[in-house]
Amino acid sequence: MSRRILIAGNWKMHLSPDDGAAVVSQLASTVGPASDVEVLVCPTFVGISSALQAAKGSAVQVGAQNCHWEPKGAFTGELSAELLQAAGCSHVILGHSERRQYFGETEETVCLRLQAVLRTGLVPVLCIGETLEERESGQLETVLRRQVTGALAGIAPDQLSSLVVAYEPVWAIGTGVVASTEQAQEAHAFVRSVLREILGSAADAVRILYGGSVKPNNAQELMSQADIDGALVGGASLKAEDFLAIISASKQG
Ligand code: PGA
Repeated sequence: MSRRILIAGNWKMHLSPDDGAAVVSQLASTVGPASDVEVLVCPTFVGISSALQAAKGSAVQVGAQNCHWEPKGAFTGELSAELLQAAGCSHVILGHSERRQYFGETEETVCLRLQAVLRTGLVPVLCIGETLEERESGQLETVLRRQVTGALAGIAPDQLSSLVVAYEPVWAIGTGVVASTEQAQEAHAFVRSVLREILGSAADAVRILYGGSVKPNNAQELMSQADIDGALVGGASLKAEDFLAIISASKQG
């Protein structure tokens, strides 16, 4: 089953609206109006509109890094999937490990947010991944299974056709330590097997991205693995040259 590669940039709390627009302009002029590889950047909330402006006429898409589950209401400081859609976003990252670690994100709240994103028709990028302690104590599969089944709990399989999953081992995020291609492929294959239990053969169409210290020099090897369908890139997505090099390497993978 051939799945279209998705290279997504997670800018986290970096880049001003102007600096982000400058990065997107460079991406847009190289990527052009159509691209084999799907390209996405997820700026800060305040950077979304200038990134969209800079992406105009190109295949570069713009997403968000989180959303609230209610469509509207008295939730000071929050943004709904509906508001993000109205702002022009195409994707929303959900359950990133930094949100789980610092902002009390749980399987239950990830599931609520996932339902909200699906309700709008935006594409969810569901992040999962184990800590080093969990891996070293032999809990890798237990953790990944819990995160996948928890996020998808109660959601009808036919609503999940747009789902993108990002496997991001926590110990590889922002550390410069990348999972070996074998470790990554093994985890991706396991995640796909869990998805198959829930979605049946539709799991073969779900793209599973790898995240955690993806750089221009390791992207090609990672993308060459059977179950790795793209990348969620943090640090190396902040510079257009690096991100473009990852996009171009992924075409060879
Ligand atoms: P990194 O971040 O590429 O800087 O390791 C990845 C992520 O957190 O999505």
